[in-house]
Amino acid sequence: MLTGKRILLIIGGGIAAFKSLDLIRRLRDQGALVVPVLTRSAEEFVTPLSVSALAAQKVYRDLFDLTDEAEMGHIELSRAADLVVVAPATADLMAKMAAGLANDLASTLLMATDKRVLIAPSMNVRMWEHPATRRNLAVLQGDGVLVVGPDEGNMACGEYGPGRMADVPEIIEAVGAALGDGSMKDRHVIVTSGPTHEPIDPVRYIANRSSGAQGGAMAAALRDLGARVTFVTGPADVPPPAGVDVVRVETAREMLSAVQAAHPADAAVFAAAVADWRVENASGSKMKKDGSGNAPALEFTENPDILAGVARMEEGRPKLVVGFAAETDNVVENATAKRLRKGCDWIVANDVSSETGIMGGDENAIVLIDGDGAESWPRLPKAEVAKRLARRIADAIGAV
Ligand code: CTP
Repeated sequence: MLTGKRILLIIGGGIAAFKSLDLIRRLRDQGALVVPVLTRSAEEFVTPLSVSALAAQKVYRDLFDLTDEAEMGHIELSRAADLVVVAPATADLMAKMAAGLANDLASTLLMATDKRVLIAPSMNVRMWEHPATRRNLAVLQGDGVLVVGPDEGNMACGEYGPGRMADVPEIIEAVGAALGDGSMKDRHVIVTSGPTHEPIDPVRYIANRSSGAQGGAMAAALRDLGARVTFVTGPADVPPPAGVDVVRVETAREMLSAVQAAHPADAAVFAAAVADWRVENASGSKMKKDGSGNAPALEFTENPDILAGVARMEEGRPKLVVGFAAETDNVVENATAKRLRKGCDWIVANDVSSETGIMGGDENAIVLIDGDGAESWPRLPKAEVAKRLARRIADAIGAV
């Protein structure tokens, strides 16, 4: 299942560190290559020699080990991995990660990596329930860090409750899920997301209410299938998912350039709520009231249609171009017309009338429209909609 996957395993200093030895063995049984890193305090619980013997790899222990010419630098070490796993993740390591500290090898690798990070927390129940740990956990989840466990049970300290590191098979399953099923391996997908901001002057802009939630979920679901995702995002409320190539833009024209620069791609998914208009007479300096009581007159000009541009590319068009359509009336009729007008293969339509609670909510009810007709999906969590769409995209572009 994990054949050829390279896992950077950071072992923290907790009593559960002994389980990491079994974790190494089981990951290797699945075909993974495990590169172990021990924190200083982890060495109190497991020896570098046993870790190294089980992993059949050198154990990395010190930031300054890596200055040797013959060794990989910390940046390379953190990026050569397919996944970074922290097990056990102690309260201290979680706090460091949440604060962005980089004062030893483990924390520096965690700051330097561009790969997904999966943590298996392990600590005393009081520490797990402490407001500081709750806060840190929320920050880490917001940053896209994956979490497995902890489980509830009797703890080494004699207390009972949540805090015990997840069992090894549970961690292995989470590793498999984090690495995805690989069906979109070697495929490149461009995803646009979020709103765009169109300046009026250096301090004011025109925007819209898009949060970027559905676009972010799409990028994450495609990544989970093994695709390389270029995620072109306007200033969204939700942070971009980990493990995708993020390109941050503000305006529609910047989004267009970023999408053009990201080609070639096997598929492109346009979930962004692009401003249709920009202010043509935007001012280079802050607009002032002139005392006359007259409001300034803003002149608008149409923005380029990024989706239509890609859908009508004569050369190098992605195999599949997917647009989104948020409608309030005659959803299927309007979205069907939009598909033809823009030239895309599929349109994902949804009814964003306020009574549906879809805009800003966690659920979505979509109609998937292609050349053969319209297919209504049941109301589902946005992440589930994204997963099913990603699966359909993989099938459509002939991924394995
Ligand atoms: N879109 C785009 N570039 C634009 C406008 C829209 O790429 N300048 C994309 C959106 O990302 C979405 C699709 O086009 O995938 C439909 O966007 P929507 O705002 O619903 O369509 P409009 O072009 O604004 O059409 P209308 O004004 O008729 O609703």
